[in-house]
Amino acid sequence: MADTADLNELRELYRFFPLEGVTTNPTILSHTGNKLSVAIEGIQGLVGSGMVHIQMISSEPDDMVREAKKYRSYFDFGDNFYAKIPVTANGYRAMRILKDAGINVTATAIFTQQQALVAMKAGADFVAPYVSRLDNISSHGIEVVSDIVENIKEYNLKGRVLAASFKTVDQIYRVSMAGAHSATIGSELLHQLIKHPMTDIGVIQFEKDAVGLYDIDF
Ligand code: E4P
Repeated sequence: MADTADLNELRELYRFFPLEGVTTNPTILSHTGNKLSVAIEGIQGLVGSGMVHIQMISSEPDDMVREAKKYRSYFDFGDNFYAKIPVTANGYRAMRILKDAGINVTATAIFTQQQALVAMKAGADFVAPYVSRLDNISSHGIEVVSDIVENIKEYNLKGRVLAASFKTVDQIYRVSMAGAHSATIGSELLHQLIKHPMTDIGVIQFEKDAVGLYDIDF
């Protein structure tokens, strides 16, 4: 998924990448200069039937639930809407109420395996461990992802890992090898992810070698 609310970036990303959705939070939104309504309307126009994960800003459980229901109906989302809920005590309560109401939940701001485990028991469809923020406090983002993946397998849980907060391509490589089911990645890193100078050199050579040989018009 694309971890941005910048509509220009998203338009370009959707042209080239096989994305399954978009994730946002208030910080990501603050980088766009757009209000939530404008950003989400634009995102909705781009994702088609893909997922849109929007973060709730309320702190009381009932308010989070009301907020999620409002966004879901305001943007006329169906099942492609995911309410991003931070893993606080209030958040866990909101997750359970939302799941009972049939609304998809992404548990966010996860820093430990046990936060993710409790979120999945509370019904979260996705759990989002913050890899880079963990690495930056001398913890190990990849290990947390790997532990959550192991829990999912061991306890046969329905939740999926949505690895988040990346600063390097290597972190993305490692979470994919650790079995993360999905990842949300910013525009710059998505572009870096597919780059290899040897690929570019190879393509240039193919183009040169094809001159005068490819005689079928298309
Ligand atoms: C996505 O869901 C997260 O909110 C996001 O990846 C956090 O990234 P950051 O640590 O770069 O702010």
